Amino acid sequence: MDDPFVYLNGTMTPLSEARISVLDRGFIFGDGIYEVIPVYRRKPFRPVQHLARFFRGIESVGIRNPYSEEKWLSLIDEIVRNAPTEDQLAYLQMTRGVAPRTHAFPAKEPVPTVFIMSNPLIPPTAEMLEKGVACVTMEDKRWLRCEIKSISLLGNVLAAQNAAEHAANETIQFRDGSLTEGSSSNVWIVRDGTLFGPPKDNLILEGIRYHLIEELCAEDNIPFVSKRITRDEVFSADEVLLSSAAKEITPVVTIDGNTVGNGRPGPIFKKLQAAYQVAKYA
Ligand code: PDD
Repeated sequence: MDDPFVYLNGTMTPLSEARISVLDRGFIFGDGIYEVIPVYRRKPFRPVQHLARFFRGIESVGIRNPYSEEKWLSLIDEIVRNAPTEDQLAYLQMTRGVAPRTHAFPAKEPVPTVFIMSNPLIPPTAEMLEKGVACVTMEDKRWLRCEIKSISLLGNVLAAQNAAEHAANETIQFRDGSLTEGSSSNVWIVRDGTLFGPPKDNLILEGIRYHLIEELCAEDNIPFVSKRITRDEVFSADEVLLSSAAKEITPVVTIDGNTVGNGRPGPIFKKLQAAYQVAKYA
């Protein structure tokens, strides 16, 4: 059985031996922040941007970051070097630490729990890229701080389960009639050659691919607009795309059983997907 090394609170240890207290506030309250970094050929892709988002999240909930950026990068490198596959998804998590159960922050600041592991990256299959994937929709019932990559993911878990129960790749969520995001991905639409993404506000996680896609659009002369997107605009779009560390850029061809565009991955997807494949190995 694979038993890769993970990092837990200062120690590299086999995954099977990693242990935390049941009083960890991550376990009790979901009081923590996480990050997922794609790794290609054992090289993390845009790690500094991922760490910047991680640090912003930690700071916004008042958890003390014990390490410098340099130290985080070297710990991630060590985990990545020892992982079984070349392409990986590195996972970082920090919680507020271990303390008797009281909701408010403990009077005596606990030592934060730090955990790093890396799993094999399973990118979208050739079939998904050639034929596209099915999605379903749901009202977004999560909290209003979705810009924070919190480990409290029950809303996202239920949205992902909704997709699984409908044999769909992802659940596309709407709040009050506007597109927010997937259970673990950002969602994009194309109309008349322009790519549209929802605003970067508290209703979505600003994916590291959000900025990357803006860059790729600029390089490829694809007009890009960030704005509120209605349900009708999603259902009448020429193309719909998903993006995340794991999904890279994935084309959507049906939503709730309705065909998107002409039912095949479109030209904007193809351009962005090709540019992404170049960028990830650069
Ligand atoms: N999720 N929105 C949500 C809710 C997400 O969970 C993610 C990523 C994204 C895309 O962000 P990025 O481009 O930085 O991967 C958007 C990761 C992959 C996860 O939870 O496993």
